[in-house]
Amino acid sequence: MTARRDVRSALKNQDANQLRQARQRVHLVKEALGERGPTWWSDAPDYNRHLVKNTPYHEWYESLDNALHESDLLQFAPDYDAYQSSFHTAFRRQLYAILDQLPLPDHASVLDVPCGNGFYSRRFAERLGMGGRLVAADKSVAYLGQAQRAIAEANSLAVVEVIEADAYRLPFPDATFDLVWCAQSLISLDPAAAVREMYRVVKPDGLVAILEVDEFHHVLLSWPEELEAALPQAMLSASVKRFCDGGKLSPTRRLRRLLQEYGFRSVRRDTYPIERAAPFDPPTLAFLTQHFQFLRSMAYAQLSPFNQCEFDRLTNSSNPNSLFRSPDSELVCINAVYYASPNRV
Ligand SMILES: C[S@@+](CC[C@H](N)C(=O)[O-])C[C@H]1O[C@@H](n2cnc3c(N)ncnc32)[C@H](O)[C@@H]1O
Repeated sequence: MTARRDVRSALKNQDANQLRQARQRVHLVKEALGERGPTWWSDAPDYNRHLVKNTPYHEWYESLDNALHESDLLQFAPDYDAYQSSFHTAFRRQLYAILDQLPLPDHASVLDVPCGNGFYSRRFAERLGMGGRLVAADKSVAYLGQAQRAIAEANSLAVVEVIEADAYRLPFPDATFDLVWCAQSLISLDPAAAVREMYRVVKPDGLVAILEVDEFHHVLLSWPEELEAALPQAMLSASVKRFCDGGKLSPTRRLRRLLQEYGFRSVRRDTYPIERAAPFDPPTLAFLTQHFQFLRSMAYAQLSPFNQCEFDRLTNSSNPNSLFRSPDSELVCINAVYYASPNRV
């Protein structure tokens, strides 16, 4: 409760540092309570990902008058929001080009799940015409508000719904959608449960398209070789420490098999690299800032002192030799999309 109160207070004070620390404390407490991470008890079933009303604890939960419930936390955009938004802004043209090449008649029905801030939903809303249907679904109330605003700007001719929904229990009959789009979300989800539900709601001749990244090679930069070699190892250690899962940050590696196991008869992967060279434009610089913060929060503590110094030097934007400002700086951002259809195509 205290950690959650601290999150609220940090949001109120608009203090990014305080917020990061408070969220980290919420995370640790949730792990200790068994709400996140692997189960540490063996005397009862795991009721995570069950609505409380469907568990034996519903009476107790309903009796909590003043408690801050899980749904309260969903009022706030998640920790990775700034990183995610900077990615969208820096690579908007290339990301929308991926959407634009999807076979999508005006009257298609599309599900964007989880839709997050509506970045992709907005483009679908622009593309669909009369007779089309777009559903943008997410569990986060804060994100749904953002998605609603983003989609409204599209002035779509299609019928648009923005709904609160759990990706594991989508409120649609089987075979509802021509296209199910899922971007950069498998890290936040149980991939198997999400893929199973996507398979259920897509039409037999429809398409599921999953955009994912592999954090071990999502963003390639002109690091010195020694640091470049050390970063993935540091990331792996951090992933094991934080998630008890070395594969958490690289969900694509198991995705083809997963899609096939859940019944998709046709599975294809396309890779979309995006290249940038110095001098970087402001959106790329903003993305780099967020990316370095992400690396710092995940991997920095696992680096050797020498590599930590190198990391500090190269990510200090006032240093003319940093990756922000060096004239030799290059960036390659690698994104993969898995296209899967229940039928062979
Ligand atoms: C990294 S964001 C990606 C959002 C969006 N697809 C994008 O690319 O911007 C992950 C999203 O998953 C949502 N999410 C996490 N667990 C969920 C669940 N069980 N059901 C629905 N959405 C969920 C979060 O609220 C968040 O919006």
